Amino acid sequence: MNQSNDVNIFFDKMRESLVDHSFVKLTLSKSVGSNKDFKNVYARLIEIKGNIQLSFTLRYATKDEVKNFDLENGIQQIKDWIGVQFLNADLFTTQEDVVLQLNKKRKARLFIKKPSIQTIPNIQHDRSKKRWLEVSNSLYLNEMGITNAAGNILKSGQKKFRQLNKYIEIIDSVLNNHPLPKHPKIVDMGSGKGYLTFALYDFLTRSKTINPTIVGIELREHLVSYCNDLAKQSNFKNLSFIAQDIMDFPADQMDMLIALHACDIATDLAIAKGIKANAEIIIVAPCCHKQIRKDMNCTNAMQSVLQHGILAERQAELLTDGIRSLLLEVHGYKTKVFEFISTEHTPKNVMIVATKSKPKPELLKQIAAIKKQFGITTHYLETLL
Ligand SMILES: C[S@@+](CC[C@H](N)C(=O)[O-])C[C@H]1O[C@@H](n2cnc3c(N)ncnc32)[C@H](O)[C@@H]1O
Repeated sequence: MNQSNDVNIFFDKMRESLVDHSFVKLTLSKSVGSNKDFKNVYARLIEIKGNIQLSFTLRYATKDEVKNFDLENGIQQIKDWIGVQFLNADLFTTQEDVVLQLNKKRKARLFIKKPSIQTIPNIQHDRSKKRWLEVSNSLYLNEMGITNAAGNILKSGQKKFRQLNKYIEIIDSVLNNHPLPKHPKIVDMGSGKGYLTFALYDFLTRSKTINPTIVGIELREHLVSYCNDLAKQSNFKNLSFIAQDIMDFPADQMDMLIALHACDIATDLAIAKGIKANAEIIIVAPCCHKQIRKDMNCTNAMQSVLQHGILAERQAELLTDGIRSLLLEVHGYKTKVFEFISTEHTPKNVMIVATKSKPKPELLKQIAAIKKQFGITTHYLETLL
């Protein structure tokens, strides 16, 4: 339908309520579509495997049907219904009730009323319970521009904060199954500005009964001195940063290795150090995947698919991380590869979690077969092991 200003405002308000967590529910009514049995839609938020989704109950004359969408597709679905299947949309937030009404000619009118529901739905309660990081009195979150001086999360810091929470939630769940020793050594390779390194130190020392030593390894010296200063100011005694290439870092004993978005082969360098140091846990979220992209030279039927740059890029990504995971398994780790945060927050969202297990040398054959199929001469990680 033609998007009038009122319709746009309605969707802006819906988006806002999803961002600031004031969304309660949404109802579509006054059914006018070709499907006469399709009477209403009731939308609410649910959390599935850590992802927030819009759950729609589609009410038909004789049955209900439930469909879940990620937020972006959910909003699009509502847009598609309005003016086609339904003339009324009621958005309930804890701030206001927003009513969109269309007449038979599809002319829209918007009404904004005081909120009729001020209690936050369960999911919001769950979400606040699942705040893994302490925001008040947190100097590093303030210094990194995530919170203001009063300890409230800034609008501009919400995305980063959500990412950090998600990382910590994942790490917590890994540690519950693979407890670290009382004084573990943790290395964060390619620590950058140190967002996760600080959050992890803070979380472990506050919430777990362990006393870790965490070292961040980072090429850029100015970031290293910034992070060391901040660690001192924060009184994080066993958190420090070293200006060094991951390649030169000695693969001495370490219990856990993390490398988030370490560029291209830096992820391979990090994984190799973790394996050599016999780390109990290795967690990486790879970034760009240039090495395999350049080395891939497919001559079989797949060639016709991979002639498209974007598809070749995605294939290279899949192969790079797939072979990383297999190599980890060969070298005695059990791996899990998953999307750890919605693409809405970052497109770099694949995570490999590897925990110590039994070596599986038999997987080398599969790696060789995959490489042959895609004309890959070498995966950089292999050369390091
Ligand atoms: C995209 S940033 C990610 C920073 C941080 N891990 C995060 O997730 O916020 C990648 C960082 O890795 C660093 N880096 C890349 N290659 C490196 C290497 N070989 N040795 C040390 N640091 C490296 C870069 O300087 C950059 O700061």
